[in-house]
Amino acid sequence: MRALLDAGVPVASSCNGAGVCGKCKVQVPRGGENLSPISDDEIFILEKNGIGKGFRISCQCLVQGDVTVDTSYW
Ligand code: FES
Repeated sequence: MRALLDAGVPVASSCNGAGVCGKCKVQVPRGGENLSPISDDEIFILEKNGIGKGFRISCQCLVQGDVTVDTSYW
């Protein structure tokens, strides 16, 4: 989420990155291996919000290389 915001890209959120709302979800079509491993907390958020595979909670992962992300509101 921070990398996206620093790049000037809007990210939906109602918890300001606290890892509660799940609104910052992004689809990761390429480069998912360049994100930090998914944590138990992130799995909980994904499951609680019914978010399917191929998505990450952007406020809960770190960018470690080139990644392509997308979301429905861009
Ligand atoms: S901003 Fe709410 S879970 Fe990421």
